[in-house]
Amino acid sequence: MAIRKIVKYGDPVLRKKCSPVNVIGNEIRKLIRDMFETMYDAPGIGLAANQIGVGLSVAVIDIQPQGKRMPLVLINPKVVELKGHLFEEEGCLSIPGFLSKIKRHGFAKVTALNEKGLPMTYTGEGLLARALQHETDHLNGKFYIDHLPILKRWKIFAEIRKRKKSHLW
Ligand code: NI
Repeated sequence: MAIRKIVKYGDPVLRKKCSPVNVIGNEIRKLIRDMFETMYDAPGIGLAANQIGVGLSVAVIDIQPQGKRMPLVLINPKVVELKGHLFEEEGCLSIPGFLSKIKRHGFAKVTALNEKGLPMTYTGEGLLARALQHETDHLNGKFYIDHLPILKRWKIFAEIRKRKKSHLW
């Protein structure tokens, strides 16, 4: 297992739609182990493969309910149902130092394969619903800040540019 470097906003790999995984073998299982280790170390509650520079449709989530681990593996996930609304603060390991309140659905249902290649259905409300939407967005080349009103987004872009110039990004 290894902690991998998390790529930041501005890296083109984060804007590309990830490719589906065709074979779930040892390589993918190692990728998943590294992703969990990287996510827990960060610490974060979700991580998409493109966030460590791998353009494959793989994400991991663990919202750790009541402080207990609940690792979820999502290979080739598909959002099949969204309901309700939430307006909560969100952040992203690839956009460190920023948090913004954004609109999300309050319930999400996602189908995916797990690390054994078994079909899974993940349903969640609240934080889990948000994590499912956030990570599937990543795999489609989207960020949570894309859901913000344009002026708020521009403010964040301007601040990121400033940090890049000062080599703080
Ligand atoms: Ni993120």
